[in-house]
Amino acid sequence: MASDVTALPLEGRRILLGITGSIAAYKAAVLCRLLKCAGAEVRVVMTPLAKQFITPLTMATLSKNPILVEFFDPENGAWNSHVALGEWADCYLIAPATANTLAKMAAGVADNLLLTTYLSARCPVVVAPAMDLDMYAHEATQQNLRTLRSRGVEIIEPAEGELASGLRGKGRMSEPEQITAFVAELLDEKKKSLAGKRMIVTAGATIEAIDPVRFISNHSSGKMGYAIAGELAARGAEVTLITGRTALSTPRGVRRVDILSAAEMYAEAVRAYAEADGGVMCAAVADYTPAEVAQTKIRKHDGEMTLTLRRTQDIAAELGRQKGDRLLVGFALETDDEEAHAEEKLRRKNFDFIVLNSLRDAGAGFRGDTNKVTFIDRAGREELPLLSKREVARRIADKIETFLK
Ligand code: C5P
Repeated sequence: MASDVTALPLEGRRILLGITGSIAAYKAAVLCRLLKCAGAEVRVVMTPLAKQFITPLTMATLSKNPILVEFFDPENGAWNSHVALGEWADCYLIAPATANTLAKMAAGVADNLLLTTYLSARCPVVVAPAMDLDMYAHEATQQNLRTLRSRGVEIIEPAEGELASGLRGKGRMSEPEQITAFVAELLDEKKKSLAGKRMIVTAGATIEAIDPVRFISNHSSGKMGYAIAGELAARGAEVTLITGRTALSTPRGVRRVDILSAAEMYAEAVRAYAEADGGVMCAAVADYTPAEVAQTKIRKHDGEMTLTLRRTQDIAAELGRQKGDRLLVGFALETDDEEAHAEEKLRRKNFDFIVLNSLRDAGAGFRGDTNKVTFIDRAGREELPLLSKREVARRIADKIETFLK
């Protein structure tokens, strides 16, 4: 045991190890041991078939935690929450990952605890495929791996060598030492690259009161902004997330400031930006707010009614004025003449770069889990394919890093 515990590569990290039904599951015991020796806390979730290859007793003893297989304990009805597991983990490592599990992950099938946990996990997900060479080479498997990669899943390529079938080829699960090193590097990279940087992120929709019961708002779910805040924090930044009302839980390590109206968001954002190295303006802020808020519920009456609105303050434009050496990233959601409008906003609001989403693209914009964006800066434009919001957040964080260096 090393005496300097801070030197352990996975010290304090929480790894959720998923084991599926492959003969390579015997290596999961060694993998679990190595992760523990590297300082990680390990919990294990297995598919029902995986229990045929390695016993829960072995894995429970090595991980020092009970093994999770079923959605609930049949003895006492205690619920194994896949959401809580996904939130607990800093990394979800599925090793070995069979062709069957990879296909189900790509399709979003949720028929066991390991898969439901995958669908609800917000942390980085790493898979180490293990299968026969022809299964691995099959276009169906390759297509599934491409799909998973485009959604941000990290894939540890299998190695060439002798397979359980007696054949030789590519399909052997990567060795536990390599998998442990991969996970340590992945988490380390994220930990350090933005250490010491203070960032603010605005997210979600604002709510503008009309009277005590009604308001004006919009469809923003906050998912994109939360993914960015989580990614920046995972890379070591000190993040203040200024957020409208959402159903999302706070990403790990993020300081969250809840606001309702555009005016409240303005006050919090201006205050936090003064102390920050940069900001990402992801919120869908109301452009107009009722000129007066009725103190009592407005009664209905015959005929039309008119509501007088006044302009809100543009938070991003104000931060653009105060910017100095700080970084400022904007978003634009356009329905027409997208690029011209985005370029105009880049200049007017003094953004370093702008992330353009178009409502015309299938899978982009509000509420969904995917987004299709184009980065526009003063040097040019870069169009990204359809990606998960988590992967878009990573690309944005990568670009932020190039500006902050
Ligand atoms: O609303 P608009 O399309 O001009 O918004 C573009 C960018 O400005 C977004 O990044 C948005 O978060 C930001 N914005 C803001 N305050 C406003 C309106 C927009 O920060 N009042």
